[in-house]
Amino acid sequence: MINVVILGCGSITDWRHGPECRDSDKVNLVGFWNRTYETAKKFAEKFGGRAYESYDEVLADKGVDAIIVTTNNATHMDMTVRALESGKHVLCEKPLAVTAEEAEKMIEASRKTGKLLLTAFNQRLDPAHVALKRVIDEKTLGRVLSFETSFVTAGPEGWSANKTPATWFFNKDSAGMGAVGDLGVHKADLMSYLLGERFRSVYAAVRTLDKKGPDGDPIQIEDNGYAILESESGITGSLHASWVCYGRGGSQTVIHFESGTAVTDGAKLTLYHRDGKVTEVEITDKARVLCDVLAESVEKGVPEISGEDGLWALKTAVAAIKSSATSSKIDI
Ligand SMILES: NC(=O)c1ccc[n+]([C@@H]2O[C@H](COP(=O)([O-])OP(=O)(O)OC[C@H]3O[C@@H](n4cnc5c(N)ncnc54)[C@H](O)[C@@H]3O)[C@@H](O)[C@H]2O)c1
Repeated sequence: MINVVILGCGSITDWRHGPECRDSDKVNLVGFWNRTYETAKKFAEKFGGRAYESYDEVLADKGVDAIIVTTNNATHMDMTVRALESGKHVLCEKPLAVTAEEAEKMIEASRKTGKLLLTAFNQRLDPAHVALKRVIDEKTLGRVLSFETSFVTAGPEGWSANKTPATWFFNKDSAGMGAVGDLGVHKADLMSYLLGERFRSVYAAVRTLDKKGPDGDPIQIEDNGYAILESESGITGSLHASWVCYGRGGSQTVIHFESGTAVTDGAKLTLYHRDGKVTEVEITDKARVLCDVLAESVEKGVPEISGEDGLWALKTAVAAIKSSATSSKIDI
């Protein structure tokens, strides 16, 4: 059992980390910090634990083993480095930071302090993704040839605590990147994890197609991106990340193998065999949750989903944006 404090009381804490920590038998939810104390108090009343008045108070609390960072992207680096330096393990939301340099500082702080840094890539834990990893590793359909992966939504202003164009997600200084940094990193990590290798290059078209900020002008970060990725062993695939899919959003991965095609949304996995047979894979795995992964990683002394994983996905997103800006293929 580890003692955990959650930093940031917005949508993802309300929807995932609050309930998951409350219900976990591997984690003791000690409390919450938010930049507004009243919100932290509301979350403590809802999920248990106490509200902290300041972040310094959290850092000084020797009873806290680990911190879950769920504040806006631009604050991840500072929050995480301070937590690691005060002797606490960290599970940080994605994107790990707003630049690769910041993510490297976080990894360096983890190395120096010996405290673990994990990135919140929850898609790896989806039961159908776990089953798909088995299909790949056991070569059920043979060798992987190519893939198409997408994570497309109607945008964060329908999701975040501030449901207006003034959301921090639309502000370059607070978010760093748009849809590619927000959703693309999930899929870059998922594909890299499933294939068991990193991507070596990317070619992308990244645009701002529709989103407007509070002033009515187009936002300064991308709301849509398409990327062609090539892995170390030469597997190629497409990645679509978008905030402007208003009618039918979702998360989907299609993998083409020598002997067929696998299609999943993370919950269901269908195999289309080369001979025409279609089979549904029985999903037997129970969904694991991030706070349990954090607790198990602390117990083993090794981060299951590491800071390096967060850095690689971030580098892929940054390279996609650079590729689009320069109309050239970029090495990651
Ligand atoms: N893993 C996932 O699937 C997933 C899903 C949604 C969000 N996220 C990530 O979680 C983080 C929070 O997203 P959200 O959807 O909960 O956003 P939100 O807008 O609902 O909440 C943002 C939180 O950040 C805090 N915050 C904003 N600016 C701050 C500042 N300058 N200093 C300190 N705190 C500040 C707010 O008080 C609030 O607690 C983001 O990094 C986001 O990318 C991950």
